[in-house]
Amino acid sequence: MRRAVRLVVFLCLVVSVLAGLCACSKKEDKYTIGIIQIVEHPSLDTIRQSFIDKLGAEGYVDGENIVIDYQNAQNDQTNLNTISKKFVNNKYDMIVAIATPSAQAVVAATDEIPIVFAACTDPLGSNLVSNLEKPGANVTGTSDAVSAEKIMELANRITPGFKKIGALYNSSETNSISVINELEEYAAANGLEVIKGTVSSSSEVQQVAISLVGKVDILFSPIDNTIASAMAIVGKIARDAKIPFYVGADSMVKDGALATYGINYVILGQETGEMAVQIIKGKKPGDIPVRTMSDMDIYINKTTAEKIGITIPADILEQAAEIFE
Ligand code: TRP
Repeated sequence: MRRAVRLVVFLCLVVSVLAGLCACSKKEDKYTIGIIQIVEHPSLDTIRQSFIDKLGAEGYVDGENIVIDYQNAQNDQTNLNTISKKFVNNKYDMIVAIATPSAQAVVAATDEIPIVFAACTDPLGSNLVSNLEKPGANVTGTSDAVSAEKIMELANRITPGFKKIGALYNSSETNSISVINELEEYAAANGLEVIKGTVSSSSEVQQVAISLVGKVDILFSPIDNTIASAMAIVGKIARDAKIPFYVGADSMVKDGALATYGINYVILGQETGEMAVQIIKGKKPGDIPVRTMSDMDIYINKTTAEKIGITIPADILEQAAEIFE
């Protein structure tokens, strides 16, 4: 009798150990993706969701056949480095980096794990890849390069006659630098002046934005993550001072700026997802060209226009992809 009990206990143990082993090896079979995002603001959140949806549509569902570990660095460089190291130590199968500062951190952390970056404005100037057509190494992704010149042309149609442009951006975001360089070229060629208001962290945005009031005719922020996550503050400062505020991205218009000529980030998220699927299926990142979104649209905030006493020309309203209220 005691023998029988022992045998049953022993068999139970064997079964549970085997079950455990099975569960473990099954977990390791799942493709693991680390997503690192510099900060949470509406545009980056849209990109992430659209990326995850695209993976799902292609049959890769988090918790089912893939595992996604999403981490937000809260606009902090130390967090970026810690998260990147953790992803590399965990030997994830792929790392998806949303926005330039995140991509720079993971590119520095590994030259082996495939990296797909999303929405990096200037992948060359930010040293993410050395060739857009043939990235070569373990890195590829999507770019949301915009044109400062095109945005200024739109500004000229909505609020002609401006002379002084206040440029508000984080000078450590290389995604902003290239657009500001283009803005300065445009200004020089057109007899305009650029007055820079640079910040190095979110906490400085309010003070620097206020310091530009009274000195400039219009405000401009590129596709800058620090400004995008402080739009509640900057949008209000610009509206209260009745300064037309032009920006690099639709979400910033929705969050209170006046207008932009920019790309569609839902599509960018989907395209980033497509590239990730190619890599899951075995393609090398270095063989996949960087994709730059080429379709640009006008986005307008009508409430902001009314608050600052500006009438948006009818033809622009007609052309706009979206008019936010
Ligand atoms: N292009 C930005 C970068 O390279 C990221 C970004 C995507 C962004 N959408 C945005 C920044 C909207 C500000 C607003 O880091």
